[in-house]
Amino acid sequence: MKIAVLPGDGIGPEIIRQAVRVLDALRADGLPLTLEEGVLGGAACDRHGEPYPDATARLVRAADAVLLGAVGGPQYDTLERALRPERGLLAIRKDLGLFANLRPAVLYPQLANASTLKPEVVSGLDIMIVRELTGDIYFGQPRGIGVNAAGEREAFNTMRYSESEVRRIAHVAFGIAMKRNRRLCSVDKANVLETTEFWKEVVTDVARDYPEVELSHMYVDNAAMQLVRNPRQFDVMVTGNIFGDILSDEASMLTGSIGMLPSASLDANNKGLYEPSHGSAPDIAGRDLANPLATILSAAMMLRYTFHREEEARRVEDAVKTVLASGLRTADIWEAGCEKISCSGMGDAVVAALARG
Ligand code: NAD
Ligand code: IPM
Ligand code: MN
Repeated sequence: MKIAVLPGDGIGPEIIRQAVRVLDALRADGLPLTLEEGVLGGAACDRHGEPYPDATARLVRAADAVLLGAVGGPQYDTLERALRPERGLLAIRKDLGLFANLRPAVLYPQLANASTLKPEVVSGLDIMIVRELTGDIYFGQPRGIGVNAAGEREAFNTMRYSESEVRRIAHVAFGIAMKRNRRLCSVDKANVLETTEFWKEVVTDVARDYPEVELSHMYVDNAAMQLVRNPRQFDVMVTGNIFGDILSDEASMLTGSIGMLPSASLDANNKGLYEPSHGSAPDIAGRDLANPLATILSAAMMLRYTFHREEEARRVEDAVKTVLASGLRTADIWEAGCEKISCSGMGDAVVAALARG
């Protein structure tokens, strides 16, 4: 089980350290894991002058799975676009063919009061957001900033999906729905955008292979509203790259904090990159304040999806639940009556719960 570890920037190294401690504890219990560290994003720009250097590409191609912290930071925002940390992240996703991004928004019962929504709206929440990750306006050509025929500066991006791209993500989403409550909501803007009208048509066609799954369609603006009005109406949601990016950040707040939302980005063979859904949080970086649970839960997803170690994945998730039940909280999920702990303190607590469990 070869894992490439890419801490990245900002809080990345802090949260990755805690997830690695959890994996080390499992290795000490006999799980045959090997971890090798590499650089991505701003850290790679600093060292190699580019966000996805060849050495990192070789490392991640040879690994079975990748564990990533986060990339980006204000000090890199003025670099030429091709050299920015975020480009490194897009490049690794594209290079490894990680088209299926799974973002589970699950409310741990202990955090019912940590959400900014009323407990009666979010309790029992368990949504799987399936976001297409290697197409859409993120990668469509042409793109750029130029001068139009009238001599005025203009900028443009292209929203684009091929049929095979939509089909394969639809199959992933239906497959997941089959293992859950068999309800799939496809999110589009088919009333305005041809790309997503096409998306809707292809998803509807794929649905014929999954007669047990109840497929519905929703416009993205309504979906954004419904997620805060009555989020429990959703079981599995499937959508394109840009809508999925936005809706998953929104859904994270239903779970108490973006620091709770893990993710898996998978290729066709379940090789995966695992990372929290949040970014490098420059505003709290270097202060041991970040919530490492999204990263630790991403490591659990790695055990489940790439290594098929359901038992170990559950052990990690149960350790997280135990810690939350004991009232230990990082600042982002803190509430009255709980004890506020640091990022490394949360790592200590999860490792200790794992040892006890
Ligand atoms: P962000 O997710 O980094 O932060 C948004 C807010 O959430 C901040 O207030 C931050 O402190 C808080 N937050 C995020 N993660 C947290 C955690 N684990 N614990 C506690 N609080 C947490 O988004 P942003 O501020 O828009 O972006 C910052 C940088 O991160 C940018 O350079 C952006 O491009 C990059 N980014 C990277 C990724 C990634 O690597 N996958 C994802 C999103 C953003
Ligand atoms: C995410 C991030 C990335 C995205 C950025 C940093 C490229 O927001 O992983 O959600 O938009 O996919
Ligand atoms: Mn995002």
